[in-house]
Amino acid sequence: MLQHSGHLYGIGIGPGDPELLTLKALRLLQAAPVVAYPVAEHGKSLARSIVAQYLRADQIEIPMFFPFKLEESAQPYYDKAAENLAEHLNAARDVAVLCEGDPFFYGSFMYLYTRLCEQFPTEVVPGISSVMASASTLGVPLTYRNDAFVVLPAILPAELLAARLKVADAAVIIKLGKHFTKVHGVLNQLGLTERALYIERATMPNQRIVPFREVEPETVPYFSLIMIPSQWQPPGVMSN
Ligand SMILES: C[S@@+](CC[C@H](N)C(=O)[O-])C[C@H]1O[C@@H](n2cnc3c(N)ncnc32)[C@H](O)[C@@H]1O
Repeated sequence: MLQHSGHLYGIGIGPGDPELLTLKALRLLQAAPVVAYPVAEHGKSLARSIVAQYLRADQIEIPMFFPFKLEESAQPYYDKAAENLAEHLNAARDVAVLCEGDPFFYGSFMYLYTRLCEQFPTEVVPGISSVMASASTLGVPLTYRNDAFVVLPAILPAELLAARLKVADAAVIIKLGKHFTKVHGVLNQLGLTERALYIERATMPNQRIVPFREVEPETVPYFSLIMIPSQWQPPGVMSN
């Protein structure tokens, strides 16, 4: 580990509402001279927009593009981004990397972390994940007592989704987008559609909650998820 290098911070910035940052995330974000964040192909950054009001004009900003296409490996892009951040860290500048939700929960920061954490002092600041925020926003307790909870990326094949859902008491299905129709078919086959809840862009200004049976597959964005909460009922609660 280099002496006198900058610190690398992976900052969980929560699911979208700028008030859902931790105090630690806010402090470290505002103190860092360099702020890096993922951008989409069109150059816009959801992560940056979440914390825009907290950034200072004198902070150096580093937009990082990582492709999410099967045909193109993202690894060279992570290599390049890590090299870029290392230059600042070697120059003793702290770098805060913005991560939507929690950095270690399907976060792209993990690929920078593995490339840099042995060379530079590194700290990860946990964030409120979209899963936790969605349960609160939908007003559904997610898991009780000894429930087994499963998180499933929608890209998995239908058979695997079905097998994992069969053994779970509660579940969340993320990364929906164009996979919604397949997931719908699996939930239908397992008799789970009545329990399924759907939310888009939870806690963001354009949040949408749509009854599951009314979701139009062609409109489902990447930032959406399906939640199947536990069926367990606390004693004394009458079921309908
Ligand atoms: C690569 S994962 C990142 C998860 C993130 N690190 C977290 O802790 O929530 C992206 C997926 O998380 C879900 N997601 C993230 N933010 C969301 C939000 N605000 N509302 C609904 N789903 C969200 C979507 O399913 C999306 O496809």
